[in-house]
Amino acid sequence: MLQLDFHPTGRHFLQIPGPSPVPDRILRAMSLPTIDHRGPEFGGLGLKVLSGIQKIFQTRHPVAIYPASGTGAWEAALSNTLSAGDHVLMFETGHFASLWQKMATRLGISTEFLAWEGKDEHLPLAGGWRRGVQADLIEARLRKDTERKIKAVCVVHNETSTGVTSDIAAVRKAIDAAGHPALLMVDSISGLASADFRHDEWGVDVTISGSQKGLMLPPGISFNALSPRALEASKKATLPRAFWAWDEIVEMNKDGYWPYTPNTNLLYGLSEAIDMLLAEGLENVFARHQRWGAGVRAAVNAWGLPIQCADPAVYSPVLTGVITPEGVDADAVRRLIHQRFDLSLGTGLGKLKGRMFRMGHLGDSNDLTLIAMVAGVEMGLKLSGVALAGSGVQASMDYFASHAAPAALKKAA
Ligand SMILES: Cc1ncc(COP(=O)(O)O)c(C=O)c1O
Repeated sequence: MLQLDFHPTGRHFLQIPGPSPVPDRILRAMSLPTIDHRGPEFGGLGLKVLSGIQKIFQTRHPVAIYPASGTGAWEAALSNTLSAGDHVLMFETGHFASLWQKMATRLGISTEFLAWEGKDEHLPLAGGWRRGVQADLIEARLRKDTERKIKAVCVVHNETSTGVTSDIAAVRKAIDAAGHPALLMVDSISGLASADFRHDEWGVDVTISGSQKGLMLPPGISFNALSPRALEASKKATLPRAFWAWDEIVEMNKDGYWPYTPNTNLLYGLSEAIDMLLAEGLENVFARHQRWGAGVRAAVNAWGLPIQCADPAVYSPVLTGVITPEGVDADAVRRLIHQRFDLSLGTGLGKLKGRMFRMGHLGDSNDLTLIAMVAGVEMGLKLSGVALAGSGVQASMDYFASHAAPAALKKAA
């Protein structure tokens, strides 16, 4: 039963891969009084976040901001660019790729779902849910499409259900190598502002993202970063859309306003988040998450448990999925850890339910909070009767101690 009147001492360890822990500085910014969203002050805030968010997406083109969760922004991307019966190519990397494919089908789009076709060592049923997008399969499929029926290629940048990141630049190269005009649409809901992402340089037509992951905000706003080709496509696309329609939003955004009531206090938070990320520098933000991921994976390797991502080249800097031994219910382990140590871990989603859990390394974290997460997981695994090969806590401490964070070195200098 939910006990809202019971608060354990200390901070809850929110180590799910989003919503991520929100920095106090952002919470404070969000506590400012709500202002008139049609008044003169608001336009300044709107213009500031609209230009700031372009830097985070690494784009010079418009970014639509919705008062909605990421799922809404998925729908916005599809409904603005496609017409009923259009054919799109998607790639099955995990639960979120599957949900997006289901949504496209529900909207009346014809979908083709490519997948990795190998045999898996630890999870025979997991299929491609341990690997990233294979650009060569996309290229081969596009080359066969001589009638140019495929209108878009849709992929997930950081598959939050598995902890696998995909090479988006390689997908763009594959589309270009096939000489195919399909749009490239990318879900970077959990990748943006944690893993390197370059909307313009990688030739992405629509990037979808959300507030509650790398941007370190609570859930409630989501984004479509656009390309000129996406905006052109939206003029001809006929899927019904009203709330999601880019044309009115982009027009009103020119003065910093929205066609409807925007999420004012979350925009205060977004403004603060953008300031924090740009002050740190995106390169440093990406390196910080890579280092965190390596420190957490050191623990999983020391435990002797398999990592959900089977390809070290595409380990996610945002989260690490851990496969529990056969017969150990990963959700029971998570429940125990939550009850005993006030630590929340991500559940196994879809066909991974009960077989793995996810450790988030994003948001308002640092070496010590991550070592504490590792300690909570290690105690929980032991209490669940899982035989561990060694101490993950020691391995994480060793990793972080021997790989000083560049920011810490700077401060000491
Ligand atoms: C990769 C990815 N896509 C889509 C979604 C759905 O976003 P939301 O839950 O904000 O609607 C999520 C949520 O975790 C996600 O991680």
